[in-house]
Amino acid sequence: MKPTNRPKLKRITPELASVSDYERLAKDFVPHGIYEYIAGGGADEITLNKNRRAFDHIELSSRTLTDCTSGTTALTLLGEQFRHPVLLAPVAYQKLVHPDGERATAQAADALEAGFIASTMSSVSLEDIAAELSKNKWFQLYFQESQEWTLALVRRAEVAGYTALVVTVDVPINGLRNRAQRAGFVLPQQVQAVNLCDMPHRSPPVLGLEQSIVFQGLMRNAPAWADLEWLSRQTPLPIIVKGIIHPDDAVRVADMGLAGVVVSNHGGRTLDGLPASISALPAVRKALGPDFLVLLDSGIRRGTDIFKAIALGANAVLVGRPQVYALAVAGALGVAHMLRLLREELEVTMALTGCPTLASISSEALHPSGRLASIEQDRHARC
Ligand code: FNR
Ligand code: LAC
Repeated sequence: MKPTNRPKLKRITPELASVSDYERLAKDFVPHGIYEYIAGGGADEITLNKNRRAFDHIELSSRTLTDCTSGTTALTLLGEQFRHPVLLAPVAYQKLVHPDGERATAQAADALEAGFIASTMSSVSLEDIAAELSKNKWFQLYFQESQEWTLALVRRAEVAGYTALVVTVDVPINGLRNRAQRAGFVLPQQVQAVNLCDMPHRSPPVLGLEQSIVFQGLMRNAPAWADLEWLSRQTPLPIIVKGIIHPDDAVRVADMGLAGVVVSNHGGRTLDGLPASISALPAVRKALGPDFLVLLDSGIRRGTDIFKAIALGANAVLVGRPQVYALAVAGALGVAHMLRLLREELEVTMALTGCPTLASISSEALHPSGRLASIEQDRHARC
């Protein structure tokens, strides 16, 4: 399987009016197997589909007649100024869809002043990504097989100027990626997790007949709470834990003195059957109180989704697949345009709901019939 060579669009055409247009068009710009790897979710994609449907069930309240002329989407996260509450989620192997990969995505984030979270599994080195970003750059860390290798990544991130670590904990093993399997997806040789290239390869353990390939095999290096505690003693960087769904886990992260959580089901790519992230958000926020940093991802495709996430307790959101679709269709220009669409859609939503600042967005901005009740309904809905 080869990464695509189809020329990217050089300008933004009228048909690109929303994120879903990038998603639709991206199919024509990347080989089928690669598209299925990116777009797909775990197993039967119940969670993937819920991520979208749950947003659709939440209704907004229109409160015009409010002065919004001093409106702004600016905010502060961990002491850093952000122009708007949208960060690009860590997404691996972006050279699958564009020869410049994460370098182009980072250029777009920098131009649009969006936060950028570089993946451990990026196909451009973390140093080269950092060089494209003037501010708001965080590094996503996957624990490696040994503490020494994990620490090597952390030190490189510190030296490269990243200002926070986003530690992903929800994929100690991959979900069952049946859709990618059916399409015969394999990583092309030209696309690699370059940050990890110098790390020695350990042979997999030899398992006895009575041993499980999952428990004694794939899970043997899975991180645990003690690893997070260890990590927090190794670095001055704030640590945000990505992949939290249960409020008790969120509270444990806070009790450990870590900096924040990302409520996420990894875009429906891990355990199929999890609730939509947006459905899990209110309980996490309630458990943590108003001041702890809570981010959300999985299913954000519209400015209204960003607004709903903030209304239900998120400080900001991460956007995953849309950045790859936009990169596939129109390179850095496409990613910048996609970010601008989301930002403008959020501003329109704020104006029409009478919320000129992010701080003024609360669950009061949701229609009473569509507040938590609709999320509960979705949680119990059959697919
Ligand atoms: C991801 N995601 C991810 N997360 C992470 O912590 N490290 C990673 O390397 C990756 N890689 C990755 C690759 C691809 C192709 C996808 C689609 C996703 C998950 C990502 O950060 C985020 O949680 C989801 O993508 C959010 O859902 P949406 O916005 O794609 O619906
Ligand atoms: C994924 C991994 C790389 O979601 O996190 O494909």
